[in-house]
Amino acid sequence: MAEIKNTAKTFKLNTGASIPAVGLGTWQSPPGAVEKAVEAALRAGYRHIDTAFAYGNEKEVGQGIRASGVPREEIWLTTKLDNPWHKRVPEALERSLANLGTDYLDLYLMHWPSSTDPEDTRKHYPDWDFVDTWREMQKLVETGKVKNIGVSNFGIKNLERLLNDPSCKMVPAVNQIELHPGNPSPKLVAYCAQKGIHCSGYSPLGSTDSPLYKNETLGSIAKAKNRSVQQVLLLWGVKKGWSVLPKSINADRVKANFDLDGWDLTDEELAKIDAIPDRFKVCGDSWLPVKVFFGDDE
Ligand SMILES: NC(=O)c1ccc[n+]([C@@H]2O[C@H](COP(=O)([O-])OP(=O)(O)OC[C@H]3O[C@@H](n4cnc5c(N)ncnc54)[C@H](OP(=O)(O)O)[C@@H]3O)[C@@H](O)[C@H]2O)c1
Repeated sequence: MAEIKNTAKTFKLNTGASIPAVGLGTWQSPPGAVEKAVEAALRAGYRHIDTAFAYGNEKEVGQGIRASGVPREEIWLTTKLDNPWHKRVPEALERSLANLGTDYLDLYLMHWPSSTDPEDTRKHYPDWDFVDTWREMQKLVETGKVKNIGVSNFGIKNLERLLNDPSCKMVPAVNQIELHPGNPSPKLVAYCAQKGIHCSGYSPLGSTDSPLYKNETLGSIAKAKNRSVQQVLLLWGVKKGWSVLPKSINADRVKANFDLDGWDLTDEELAKIDAIPDRFKVCGDSWLPVKVFFGDDE
């Protein structure tokens, strides 16, 4: 029987592009460590890197890509428009491209549906919001500097507003959202699928000090398969149909998180993980000047 190649899996976007199922996350990966993590990931076979202007590490992510020797065109590179830059979309893109040392992005995401005033980040612009920002982002595609555009942290309510606005000519290719067994968001995932929007799952391991590592259901499945809980979590996400973005700055863990080939999860195991009842969310919206989560995604 041919070996199961979960890491070679890609998901087709509504633009025709294919996004690799497993990408390296880089939030809280400090400059100095992230370069090595990106290099280790690309050497281990990852072909998808997720960063953001707000992470303050785009330069080192770019250095890691170059240090790996993997050609740029073989890598799916995502970065994100930061909230205080919503009125300056072309300038924000130029900064990210310069930081990363590349002339194009595979995916540019609006990081949050929050058009924050850069003069006072506790304030939202009175005369601008994410619909205006998306109108500007759409113009980037024809420049060739951005292959695909998408959003992040959008729930159903904000997606409805965006998609129903006459200025919306492009359906976001991706909605990057928090997805793990503690926050599976089945309504939002189904809504996105119905609209042709691919979901990328952030915090797939449950983020820093994840409570999922002590979960008995996950522990018993991992033990039975002779795999780690982390590997089970990542394969669960891929089998659910979303791309996963595990972050690590430890080279051994970066490698282990990509060791997803040659084994599988059964429908019964997937159903057991789906049935984990405990709920928690890593990213809230209390730090933003506007509410973005409305509890409509459960
Ligand atoms: N769009 C958004 O608003 C948004 C929000 C959050 C995250 N994201 C993206 O999604 C990525 C992933 O999310 P995340 O960083 O919150 O969390 P995560 O990937 O779920 O978990 C990362 C944590 O798990 C640890 N870890 C990783 N692999 C491990 C392993 N095999 N065994 C034990 N511990 C392990 C990491 O520590 P070490 O580094 O020490 O290994 C780190 O503490 C981010 O990095 C970012 O790219 C996007």
